[in-house]
Amino acid sequence: MREKKNFEARPVPSGAEKKGGTCGGASLKEAYKDYFYIGTALPGSVFDEFEKYREVVTENFNSMTCENEMKPEFLLDRAATASCAANDRAAVKLNFSSAKKAADTAAALGMRVRLHTLVWHAQTPGWFFTEDYTDGGVPADRALMLGRMENYIRSVLEYYGENYPGLIYAVDVVNEAFDVGDGDEDGIRQKNSKWYETIGPDFVYFAFLYAKRYAPAGVSLFYNDYSCMWKTELILKNLARAKAEGLIDGIGMQSHLSVGDSVEKFLDAARAFSEAGYELQITELDVGIKSEEEREAQGEFYRELMRGLIRLKKSGVNLTSVTVWGLTDALSWRRRETPLLFDRDLSKKPAYRGFLEGAEAE
Ligand code: GLA
Repeated sequence: MREKKNFEARPVPSGAEKKGGTCGGASLKEAYKDYFYIGTALPGSVFDEFEKYREVVTENFNSMTCENEMKPEFLLDRAATASCAANDRAAVKLNFSSAKKAADTAAALGMRVRLHTLVWHAQTPGWFFTEDYTDGGVPADRALMLGRMENYIRSVLEYYGENYPGLIYAVDVVNEAFDVGDGDEDGIRQKNSKWYETIGPDFVYFAFLYAKRYAPAGVSLFYNDYSCMWKTELILKNLARAKAEGLIDGIGMQSHLSVGDSVEKFLDAARAFSEAGYELQITELDVGIKSEEEREAQGEFYRELMRGLIRLKKSGVNLTSVTVWGLTDALSWRRRETPLLFDRDLSKKPAYRGFLEGAEAE
């Protein structure tokens, strides 16, 4: 098992700025090596032509998240699961081939991986929630779904623990479970959530119970969510039971932001999570702009945000990872807002420079 620590610095190439790699003497992961992991989220297509991206990835990042390929809709093997169901209705069979290239590449490069995500209302197929694993079948009941949830979580964690020991350092056990607008009286999301429909509001608690049961040593268990600065209290309230029982380690702030958002408010939320005793990770950072005229302002926003995070870290906040949600603007789910650090041709944007310079905060 690899120790949970920052990566060793690599030699800093000197000379002219080149595409992608180092800039002004340090790459992102070198600049932040004493503080936290620097991650990139990659879609599966990147691994079909990885040579194109290899230098930018290896120079700058020491953590990787699969944008999609470790989500339930990719891992669940419908045919294999259905064929076991006659004997065991809670059987869950998985196929890890979609995420294999990513896991193998990360392991070969000495990068570590955030596993995203186990229990989520989205990107989890409807058939998984019916008694007979058919699309229109009778909804499974609470006991059956708790059994399937446990089997799913155990199978994923055991697979990575056995086949890639030490690769995974954090798991998003539950994603996006709380939202007042779409939720019940406690703000637990009901809308479009089959986990809620079948198990009830304590599905979040059970997900952490099972994850804790099967997580390999050294893997931190996270609750991950969007708009954290607007629902800090809601998140803390609804995680309290799992926290009190020692089942959860950290909160992942997705951080899909826009230039113009309040960095101070964002940092206040991070501080509040930390004061409540959580490890913290920034898991899906991107900062949208409305027009290309805002490129410099975007760089400034990244600089202020990263400075603020460094100051939090220095003040004792247990921030362990910052992941940018995508590599280039061409690959971003918000590509019209060009929210990332690299242009579509892999050249560095002012956003890259801002992110890099944030590391110099006092
Ligand atoms: C959420 C999810 C991510 C991803 C984005 C959109 O933030 O957590 O996995 O699906 O939406 O790309």
